[in-house]
Amino acid sequence: MSKSVDEVRSTLLSVLANGEFHSGEALGQTLNLSRASISNHIKALTSLGLDIYSVTGKGYCLANPLDFLALKEISTHLPADYSLPIEVLNVIGSTNQYIKERFDNLENGYACLAEAQTAGRGRHGRKWVSPYGSSLYLSMYWHFSGGYPALGGLSLAVGVAVAKALSLSGIEGIKLKWPNDIYGLGKKLAGVLIEVEGQMGLGCQTVIGIGLNISLPKNVEEIGQPWIDLAQLTDNSLERNRLAANLLATLSETLYVFERDGLAPFIEAWRSKDVYANQAIKLIVGKKIISGISRGVNESGAILLETEQGVKAFHGGEVSVRPA
Ligand code: ATP
Ligand code: BTN
Repeated sequence: MSKSVDEVRSTLLSVLANGEFHSGEALGQTLNLSRASISNHIKALTSLGLDIYSVTGKGYCLANPLDFLALKEISTHLPADYSLPIEVLNVIGSTNQYIKERFDNLENGYACLAEAQTAGRGRHGRKWVSPYGSSLYLSMYWHFSGGYPALGGLSLAVGVAVAKALSLSGIEGIKLKWPNDIYGLGKKLAGVLIEVEGQMGLGCQTVIGIGLNISLPKNVEEIGQPWIDLAQLTDNSLERNRLAANLLATLSETLYVFERDGLAPFIEAWRSKDVYANQAIKLIVGKKIISGISRGVNESGAILLETEQGVKAFHGGEVSVRPA
């Protein structure tokens, strides 16, 4: 039986993964395809954000060797008592969307990871650039019995969890930007997207999505703000499966604690990593821009802005922080 397009591209990638040159002819023989057909599959892989170049007489080569996500490998790095279900996917639209479509059939704590997203998203429908094999795209399903008000500040607790997972991998100095961004050296390294569906009296179904740049390709598409990846922050070897395990373990632990005790156990850690602490900032609130000094967050996770009128708390979804 002939292979599906996905199978062909997965096989092609597993051959190219070592970062060495492979001629179109040899690849064609391995896959029983013409050189022209290999060239088309390579183009399609490039459009997923893979940096594959070709040199006449030598063939195709990945700019960086690939370190595939693998459930077996992730499991070896998880704590022995981790028992939540995990699924590793290849290319999908969005790991958050994947979970949202399955809300009613998932076990609490189910998580999925993907190698690439074709419709990765951030807040307010903005795009999350999600090239193949060079980041982590991870989402976890969690059911909160308390309803919407119980979720105030959840994105802050998750930001603290990401910083802790990075610290376990030897990466320090991570900062947090209210309400959902993770920063390294003043640039965006990762983002958290929490999506919620509530049913009266039945609590909330949530998906907690994290996108973390590990080593983005040189030819990565335009990202509309300064960004950074872990490769620029550390010389340590970056094993994606180990990082994924650290992230899954700290995230699930955080969600258990947050469900029981709310934001309180995470507030001090968040404040200690506040990227704009006591700095001049602008708040974009709908169509209004309010300037002031950032004074951290209050007990419910609202941002505190000091203006001539005093210190005022701003909550939630429609508010964005920018430097002054
Ligand atoms: P806010 O302060 O409102 O959260 P934001 O600009 O951080 O604003 P988000 O919706 O949180 O917006 O995140 C999406 C934005 O993140 C995109 O518009 C883009 O500027 C940036 N972005 C997209 N992909 C990446 C990526 N892989 N790494 C870093 N930044 C990215
Ligand atoms: C942001 O900064 O606005 C949040 C970005 C969140 C991106 C992650 S990647 C995994 C999950 N799936 C998505 O489509 N988005 C989140």
